Amino acid sequence: MNQIGLDEQKAIKLSQKLNELLANYQIFYMNTRGFHWNIKGNKFFELHLKFEELYTDSQIKIDEIAERILTLGHTPLHTFQDYLGLAKVKQAKNVSDGNEAVSEILNAYKVLIPLERELLNLSDESDDEGTNALMSDYIREQEKLVWMYSSYLN
Ligand SMILES: [Fe+2]
Repeated sequence: MNQIGLDEQKAIKLSQKLNELLANYQIFYMNTRGFHWNIKGNKFFELHLKFEELYTDSQIKIDEIAERILTLGHTPLHTFQDYLGLAKVKQAKNVSDGNEAVSEILNAYKVLIPLERELLNLSDESDDEGTNALMSDYIREQEKLVWMYSSYLN
């Protein structure tokens, strides 16, 4: 048992998976900042603001994920080298087209949401209600964002 009463081996597995999610979120965060800065065209004001909302939200989630890892008794990754080695979300460089930025965001959710579902199952099997509740909030919010960003492209 660890300090919050969870099986130690399960806490290790959960922390590793949460570190994977953290790594992907850090790349996603930096991508959305780039979109916020570099976007051009007649949707500038709309998207500049929307991307700010997204990176602000990601910043909160990054902190929540890292602190969940600490709560489980482990150490969150905190170097970009580690993040790049682990993340499946690709770095997006010099994207100034609105539709391209939105497509990149949708691609990132194809990585993030399945990873969160894996964590949802793993936390369920591990009786880890704290991680479970966090993941179910993220999944619900992001599924809605996928609907909205997909509607933007159609
Ligand atoms: Fe700004």
